[in-house]
Amino acid sequence: MTAIQETTQTGLADRYGRVATDLRVSLTDRCNLRCTYCMPEEGLDWLAKPELLTDDEVIRLVSIAVTHLGVNEIRFTGGEPLLRRGLVGIVASTTQLTPRPEVSLTTNGIGLARQAQALKDAGLDRVNVSLDTIRPDTFKRLTRRDRASDVVAGLEAAQAAGLTPVKVNAVLMRGVNDAEAPELLEFCLDRGYELRFIEQMPLDAQHGWDRSTMITADEILETLSGRFALTPDDASKRGSAPAESFLVEGGPQTVGIIASVTRPFCGDCDRVRLTADGQVRDCLFARTESDLRTALRNGADDAELADRWRRAMLQKLPGHGINDPSFLQPSRPMSAIGG
Ligand code: 5AD
Ligand code: SF4
Repeated sequence: MTAIQETTQTGLADRYGRVATDLRVSLTDRCNLRCTYCMPEEGLDWLAKPELLTDDEVIRLVSIAVTHLGVNEIRFTGGEPLLRRGLVGIVASTTQLTPRPEVSLTTNGIGLARQAQALKDAGLDRVNVSLDTIRPDTFKRLTRRDRASDVVAGLEAAQAAGLTPVKVNAVLMRGVNDAEAPELLEFCLDRGYELRFIEQMPLDAQHGWDRSTMITADEILETLSGRFALTPDDASKRGSAPAESFLVEGGPQTVGIIASVTRPFCGDCDRVRLTADGQVRDCLFARTESDLRTALRNGADDAELADRWRRAMLQKLPGHGINDPSFLQPSRPMSAIGG
């Protein structure tokens, strides 16, 4: 076999022995919240419509990832993916692929109450809903919008529709919602949602992240331990799953902590991202992107697009480098990259 044939038959391998099988697809950079750790009050300069991949273009690239590149997990994200008109159709096309990938959605939950059943009917497997506080006043302070009850309704609808296990992602901000971690956990335990705390990462458009004020995984554990008995969940091998899991009061319910900053897991990374404008990003913190949209619109066939995608992975660095003195924040914020 020649070297060229070989590259056309492999998956999304990088130069450090990792293989990406989990694709995060951002469907829009827009959002109806303004979380302070993500974007400024006035929002951002959103991508113009012609720059966005069309629904058919998204489906084409997702299908190449699944059928040519060994991707077996697709997560739709944003910005806020529920704002994408074609979402249900995109999900339906994705769940019809062979082999059938796992398909999930990361959402802020606003509007989920209305769409949960249609998404389930389209084959969506699960949702991750971002919720940092259950107090309406804190929610308003953190997201700059008074929508806490919409998110709670969205969570209930997701569970009722069987988009389970319903996972909740929370980011803690010092002096804003950090003291509320135990009550958020209680809320999730009562309802059977799986809560995971995510350390705040330097991905905000305003570049306001500050290591000295971020809430670390150790602090989160300490705060939670004041109210709950937590023990490491040995059954959940961490593998490429970034959340470290803890049994609450002996189990079976758990709480997760994603310590991207203080305990990086880059060595086990199996992710790759596609932005809403058709750029491959091999890492949240990548400083380069690889354009698939131009080739796609110029009529490239599946094999060529797959090969471009494989080559893009060769730029993936061994780690995000947040803890290096030379770390530079990516020029695009989280909302444009896709969580
Ligand atoms: N650090 C950590 N998590 C973040 N998210 C958004 N911005 C950041 C950040 N700077 C979270 C959202 C959502 C997920 C996609 O990423 O709250 O749960
Ligand atoms: Fe929107 Fe998510 Fe950013 Fe909050 S973190 S503003 S919900 S994209």
